[in-house]
Amino acid sequence: MASVLPRTVQGPPVPLRWPPEDNRIPREIFTDPDLFRWEMDAVFTGPVWVLVGHEAEIPQPGDYKTLSVGAVPVIVVRGADGQVRVLVNACAHRGARVVEGPRGNVLKGGFRCIYHMWTYAPDGSLLGVSLPDDFPVEFRKEDYGLPRARVALYKGLIFASFHEQTPPLEEYLAELTQGMDRVLGDGRLRYLGSIKVIFRTNWKLYVENIYDGYHVTALHTGFQVVRLRSHGGQRLVPNYERNGHLWGQSRSTRREELQPVLRDMSLFDVRTKPTTDHNMMVVFPSGVVTDYFDTIQLRYVLPLAVDQTLIEFTFFARADDPEDVVRHRVRQGPAVLGPAGAITLEDAAALERVQQSSVARGDNVILKGTPKRFPPYRHVDEAPIRHFYQAYRRLIGVPVEEGTP
Ligand code: FES
Ligand SMILES: [Fe+2]
Repeated sequence: MASVLPRTVQGPPVPLRWPPEDNRIPREIFTDPDLFRWEMDAVFTGPVWVLVGHEAEIPQPGDYKTLSVGAVPVIVVRGADGQVRVLVNACAHRGARVVEGPRGNVLKGGFRCIYHMWTYAPDGSLLGVSLPDDFPVEFRKEDYGLPRARVALYKGLIFASFHEQTPPLEEYLAELTQGMDRVLGDGRLRYLGSIKVIFRTNWKLYVENIYDGYHVTALHTGFQVVRLRSHGGQRLVPNYERNGHLWGQSRSTRREELQPVLRDMSLFDVRTKPTTDHNMMVVFPSGVVTDYFDTIQLRYVLPLAVDQTLIEFTFFARADDPEDVVRHRVRQGPAVLGPAGAITLEDAAALERVQQSSVARGDNVILKGTPKRFPPYRHVDEAPIRHFYQAYRRLIGVPVEEGTP
């Protein structure tokens, strides 16, 4: 069934073929640059909360980090007043990117744009301009601050939204808050570091891979070794009718059974929690929160182009972890779930192949687990992918049959 995106909203209308079945995904959506431009507006600046950080990444007044919300470059900064804000990283004068580099502290001196030396306070207000004489008499500094996104926090997680109608954060997260409570505890974390890598794949392929339980033991040798499997048959997609989040729960072999088998336990050791249960969550559309093994990790999915996605892997310890546990986490996190890690490297290889062959057109098909219409699914099911695309379709304006997942 061919659909056309609504023309009443700003942005180029994109004619789009989308089959009526909810388990068929047209490959065009991974290669169409017009659609990419459209979804940056319709999805990422639509009524969603985008995960942009954790408070532990910017603990001190003036600490900041940069990333993007879809295509919008932003600065996540803690003000002199301790409050977290998300500012658009584009000068209010002639649009130059104000802040270069990934992180820093700006308490002394403010953010200074290199182009004409306008300077902004950590809260985004304009402090001053260079050579201020001969400006129009009606020029007022108050009118030229850096635009701000709405910000909401949960357990230290920082979310941004550019849409007026995004529901309150906890309502948006719904049952996902229970998973976050489990992974983040009281929310007091210590930031260990982050690694950025560009995947040569569309951002949606990267995200759908996380909903895909089918590939987990098919592709990942490491997960075969530890026999990652369903935890009580759960691969949950909470609140599937309202949003496209994922909460996958799984369980690996107990460490007592693994110890005699593995020469080096450190990759898959579980020392910091009482069971070998693991959680993998996606906050639709692009935030990943996980506690696989002893690794506490957030991922930010930053679309660069229709076939390029920057992933930032961010690693954490608990605030009161002893140093030997911190060292263990620093070693295990990147080695398993970092871009060169045992698991992630395999995903990158598979996803780049999908991207390259998407020009062949036709549909990708989701089958395993789909006879069940609704969650809970099994960990090895790929059925949850449907929920991601249903939420996506609603936002880009492709009609969704109600009553489907
Ligand atoms: S563009 Fe930033 S000061 Fe002119
Ligand atoms: Fe994977």
